[in-house]
Amino acid sequence: MRVDILSLFPQMFDGPFSQSIIKRAADRGLISIFIHNIRDFTHDKHRTVDDYPYGGGSGMVLKPEPLFEAVEWIKGEIHNDSALVILLTPQGRLFCHKIAQELSTQPNLIIICGHYEGVDDRVREHLATDEISIGEYVLSGGELAAMVVVDAVARLLPGVLGSEESTRDDSYANDLLEYPQYTRPPVYRGWEVPAVLLSGNHQEVARWRREQAIKRTLERRPGLLSKTAVPEEIR
Ligand code: 6GU
Repeated sequence: MRVDILSLFPQMFDGPFSQSIIKRAADRGLISIFIHNIRDFTHDKHRTVDDYPYGGGSGMVLKPEPLFEAVEWIKGEIHNDSALVILLTPQGRLFCHKIAQELSTQPNLIIICGHYEGVDDRVREHLATDEISIGEYVLSGGELAAMVVVDAVARLLPGVLGSEESTRDDSYANDLLEYPQYTRPPVYRGWEVPAVLLSGNHQEVARWRREQAIKRTLERRPGLLSKTAVPEEIR
């Protein structure tokens, strides 16, 4: 997968994308991430990317021209006119595991990080194919949201995670939160690891984990559970 990100603050990506899973995926050629400075697609001396809102009001609005030119240039580079163009704003549809899965099947993603008070709406209407928000709060820019989306998508790409870190049991992957995990020591400050996990009985372990996952989901995210999936004894 190739991901192109348009940002006013390209350096914000240096840290997160040079570490851990994304770094390893990039090193193995499973994902390529290109960060572009929106200012590089301006033509005036001051490299103007924003302007005052028509109709008045506070704040500045991102101008359409640099964003259209940048996306059109990227589409040429990747030879893909129908690449998804994702606009990141607090008004978008709420990002979730299912959307991450959909995006992970794409060969290309072009991601626009919104900023200031907003983005000229012609970008949403005529350039973006999708508008996404990562949660119900306002960030000062789309950069952190882009990192969240790329991380969630990258770890779903085939080969990115090893089998021992697979996504099979992930919270949300089966509409269930993940079961509790423990490691050594078996007793810490008097707090014991549940005995079943030390029993060596794989069937009992699997049953306990499933029960715990359902219990947690009922307590914390009841909306995730379809009633039919909940066994009689826990309902
Ligand atoms: Cl994608 N952008 C901004 N600026 N704020 C957000 C967001 C995105 N998602 C949640 N809050």
